[in-house]
Amino acid sequence: MKLDKALGLLREVPDFPQPGVVFRDLTPVLADPDALRAVVDALQDKIHPDTEVVAAIESRGFLLGAALGYGWRYGVVPLRKPGKLPAVAHRISYDLEYGTATLELPTGSVSPGQQVVVVDDVLATGGTAAAACALVERAGGVVTGVSVVLEIPGLGGRERLAGRSVNALLAL
Ligand code: PRP
Ligand code: HPA
Repeated sequence: MKLDKALGLLREVPDFPQPGVVFRDLTPVLADPDALRAVVDALQDKIHPDTEVVAAIESRGFLLGAALGYGWRYGVVPLRKPGKLPAVAHRISYDLEYGTATLELPTGSVSPGQQVVVVDDVLATGGTAAAACALVERAGGVVTGVSVVLEIPGLGGRERLAGRSVNALLAL
């Protein structure tokens, strides 16, 4: 399936998770086997060839990260919300529009000098992806880029990741 057709399955859900917000829902894209393949292949096309590991952001980033890891022989490291990992190497809290969030990197998952791509479904304010990059770097890893399916422009995500290679399949 062509990438355009695959991304055309994206659904916009008004008033989720709060009134006034239009949620871009990738569930129908992932639920279609041909669309899933087109999206994962397109993500892979933009990943730096030196990359060894995918750092996948909880929770929707896990789906894409595992597919990439299996398909192209990357190791997969889950970057998790607090309280989920049995052994935490590094933890970073960051600001959201309202409140804060925390992301953790598992012990022994990234070694110094390893080349790591950060993967998620959506880039919005960039707070989550920036924290993911910082976690990888705290462990001594080298971030080869940030790959997402969808970038929501106008929320400052790309600016927050200035200097990094940010690859989005679609900006909407
Ligand atoms: C969403 C999305 C990204 C993040 C993007 O995850 O999957 O991880 O928000 O937002 P940001 O660029 O403003 O940081 P969410 O926190 O909804 O978690 P989920 O994947 O577990 O639903
Ligand atoms: N869709 C999915 N994830 C998100 C969104 C969205 O519209 N905004 C922030 N994270």
